[in-house]
Amino acid sequence: MYIGIDIGISSTKVVAFVGKKLNKKEIWEGGFDEKRLNEFISSIRSLDCRVEKIAVTGVGSKRIGNKLLGYPVVKIDEFDANAASASYVCDEPEIIVVSMGSGTSFVEVTSKEAKHIGGSALGGGTILGLFQHLVGGGGWTHLRALAERGQLNNIDLTIGDISSEELPDLPMDVTVCNFGKANNHDTPQDLALGLINMVLQNIGVMAYLAGSGRGIKTFVVIGRMTTLPHAPEIFERLNNLYGVNFILAQQPTFMTAIGAVVKVL
Ligand SMILES: Nc1ncnc2c1ncn2[C@@H]1O[C@H](COP(=O)(O)OP(=O)(O)OP(=O)(O)O)[C@@H](O)[C@H]1O
Ligand SMILES: [Mg+2]
Repeated sequence: MYIGIDIGISSTKVVAFVGKKLNKKEIWEGGFDEKRLNEFISSIRSLDCRVEKIAVTGVGSKRIGNKLLGYPVVKIDEFDANAASASYVCDEPEIIVVSMGSGTSFVEVTSKEAKHIGGSALGGGTILGLFQHLVGGGGWTHLRALAERGQLNNIDLTIGDISSEELPDLPMDVTVCNFGKANNHDTPQDLALGLINMVLQNIGVMAYLAGSGRGIKTFVVIGRMTTLPHAPEIFERLNNLYGVNFILAQQPTFMTAIGAVVKVL
C-alpha cells in the first residue's frame, strides 16, 4: 500500500493506493496530524497490506521528516505531483495543469519535462476573502448555496450590453467586465456567483494565454475550486470561445496527493 499526503495552505489531503488503485481518501481541514494518519492507515489494515512508502507533497511537506509512524517518507515536489496527476485524467502528451487551490499554479507538461511556468494569486482565498467583505460573512457552504441562485447578467457587463451585434470572435455573451454592472442594490446571490465566475474565468483566460504562446490546447484543471458547481459551465464556455479543451479532473481536490503517489509507484 502507498500513502499520498498533500499538505496544502488550507487543508491536508490523504489518499491510500492498494496496488495501483485508489482505495481511500480523506480531507482534513487544517494541518497535518500524525494521529489521524495512524487512524487512516489502521482503517485500511483490515485488507492486510503493509505501507511501502508515504509520498508527501504540498507547502507543508517541508516540516515532515524522513519517517512517519516508522514508514519511509519520500518528498515530492508539488508541481511534479500535479504534473504526474494529469496522467490519471488524460493521455495527451502536451498539457498545462491548472491547480486552483488557495491560489493558482500552472505547470506545463511535455513528453520531456514538467515545468512550473507561473501562477496567480487568484484562487479560493480570493473568493472567500472578498465574499466576507461584500456579503458580510459565512463560509463555503453559505457561499455555494447563494451562488446557486445568482444571475450573472445582473453583475457582469457583456458584449450584448454594449453592442447590438457580435464583434469579431466575440459572441454576445462574452464578458467584457466582471462586476461591470454591480451597484449597491446587488443581491448576495448575484455577488457570490459574480465572485466565483470572476476568479475561475480569469484563471481560465490566463491558462489559455499561457497555452497559446506554447502551442498547447489541452488543460487539466485540479484543486478544490474545481468542485464548485459552476466550474464545468465556466470552462465549457472558454472551450467554445477559444477552441481549446479544459478537462476538469474527477477527484480534483485529491489530485496533488494522487500525483505524489503516482511518482513513487
Ligand atoms: N467546500 C468548498 N468549496 C469550494 N472551495 C472550498 C471549500 N472548502 C474550502 N475551500 C477552499 O479551497 C481552497 C483550497 O483549495 P485546495 O485544497 O485545492 O488548496 P490547498 O492545497 O489548501 O492550497 P494550495 O494548493 O494553494 O497550497 C481554499 O481557498 C479554501 O477556502
Ligand atoms: Mg493544493
